[in-house]
Amino acid sequence: MCGIVGYIGNKEAFFVIIKGLKLLEYRGYDSAGVALQNGTLEVYKKKGKVAELEAFVMEQKHDGAIGIGHTRWATHGEPNDMNAHPHTSMHGLFTIVHNGIIENYAKLKTDLTEQGYVFSSQTDTEVLANLIEFIYRQDEAINAEMAVQLALSKVVGAYGIAVLCSAENDKMIVARKGSPLVVGLGNGEYFVASDASPIIEFTNQVVYLNDEDIAVIKRDSFTLKNVRNTPVSLKISHLNLEIGELEKGGFEHFMLKEIHEQPRTIEETFRGRLRSDESEIVLGGLINIFPKIVKAERIIIIGCGTSWHAALIGEYLLEEYAQIPVEVEYASEFRYRKPVIRPTDVVILISQSGETADTLAALHLAKEKGATVLGICNVVGSTLARETDAGVFTHAGVEIGVASTKAFTAQVTVLTMFALKLARERKTISAEDYSLLVRELSQIPEKGRLILQSNDKIKAIAEKYKDAVNALYLGRGYLFPVALEGALKLKEISYIHAEGYAAGEMKHGPIALVDDNLPVIVVAPQDDYYEKIVSNIQEVKARRGNVIAIVTEGDKVLKEMVTDFIEIPASHPAVAPLLTVIPLQLLAYHIALMKGCNVDQPRNLAKSVTVE
Ligand code: F6R
Repeated sequence: MCGIVGYIGNKEAFFVIIKGLKLLEYRGYDSAGVALQNGTLEVYKKKGKVAELEAFVMEQKHDGAIGIGHTRWATHGEPNDMNAHPHTSMHGLFTIVHNGIIENYAKLKTDLTEQGYVFSSQTDTEVLANLIEFIYRQDEAINAEMAVQLALSKVVGAYGIAVLCSAENDKMIVARKGSPLVVGLGNGEYFVASDASPIIEFTNQVVYLNDEDIAVIKRDSFTLKNVRNTPVSLKISHLNLEIGELEKGGFEHFMLKEIHEQPRTIEETFRGRLRSDESEIVLGGLINIFPKIVKAERIIIIGCGTSWHAALIGEYLLEEYAQIPVEVEYASEFRYRKPVIRPTDVVILISQSGETADTLAALHLAKEKGATVLGICNVVGSTLARETDAGVFTHAGVEIGVASTKAFTAQVTVLTMFALKLARERKTISAEDYSLLVRELSQIPEKGRLILQSNDKIKAIAEKYKDAVNALYLGRGYLFPVALEGALKLKEISYIHAEGYAAGEMKHGPIALVDDNLPVIVVAPQDDYYEKIVSNIQEVKARRGNVIAIVTEGDKVLKEMVTDFIEIPASHPAVAPLLTVIPLQLLAYHIALMKGCNVDQPRNLAKSVTVE
């Protein structure tokens, strides 16, 4: 939520910042703004996309080699010019951009109002700007970084901030707690961003700030300490990111590119881990901790949204093959509901971004209770990756479309390998089943490529149903979470109300919705549940519902029975989610596009949810 970019060096800051903000726009796109230091501090901000800000600023004075910028996902105050960042303090001394939420902002605002402060926006960020300024003006001995540090000690909540001070205009101060910040180290220049994508063009040397780190950055120096004044050792990381990953590569949208990338990204996920001789699955990040995992009494898998759907598939896999009790939790519930967590539990946090606030809070809770905490994460260097005891990277590459696609299939691939490895170590799987599943998993990329060839057919189906107001998605077993995921994809990018259900649950309520206007998308390959799901389809048909079925190639029965069908190659049920989800992603994509929706940046959403 919200993207921050900062620059200090000899380049024109404006161009570095605008380009960076475009790369971070996935984090929020309600408004954008920039502050440029050039003798005086010019602040420009606008409701809407970064491109609108760019056009506006191009007509103004935009030179200056120091600057900060922001793209916003609104929390406090509606998206408008006034609430856009940067925010400047009342006397004009401090200008800041902020990602996160200052939870005690109301109390701080009241105190500052009593001191004569007047506010021009509804944001918590303006409160922080004024608090810093208020402290700064109390005593001449207090410099800008001390004022920031003292102000942050009074703040409850989350922040990633970049601050400029007009009275000390050769520096930028940055700090984080709960919201990510990365500093890129150039030659006589520094880059600041919410993630590494705006930095990679200029340098591959970065420092990831940890919680409560505060840094003072000048053209020729970078000093890092803790907001509580304790020294912090500088750990320089090397980025391993290709600029090409940040481009659409000939596709109309990032989402479409990312859907098509899946055969390759799934291969990347199991490269070097799934041995071609089927002898062993190697999960390097877990080697040292695996003996502990094998002895776990219970596994708890936690995530949000799409990552939670992957977690559900993980539950089915682990219980079936590793015979270990598994619980799946929404991070936002788990963190507050006082769950029982024991030191013998293994808690797996799943997150594409590795920055989701609720998931990180769940991680901290599990750690506090002494559980072993593992991460399944896509972003190297993210908070989740750094704070878990051990983990597995999904290696799906940068995911820019706000609706998650390739990250989901990569998460499921990791969970499948993890379940098989654990089953093998716990001796709960036969050698034949193990080999069969390893082989089936390794065949997924090839089968995925075949499914992508159905794109035109799926587009034609989308045309028929694009005006639907509601949609129901049904699946059973491993494909129930796929039904949930299909419904989530449709609602988040096309704004059609969609619900995913376990097919067997339909008769307990949702069947009341069925009429000839309701598309019912049924994930119905030929697996152990086939007969049952055919009965569910009959129940829908008897009420004149339109069934769109995902069927196994050559399934004559369902082809005759349903209104529309999409064929997929046969596979083992345990790996079927990796295939059946692809047509559902494409269906949602085409419907959203036909409805004129912004597929990559759906309204009200942001990719990285760093607020509760
Ligand atoms: C849906 C989607 C979200 C995310 C959720 C968790 O397409 O992308 O539901 O899955 O916000 O995000 P991560 O995985 O980054 O923790």
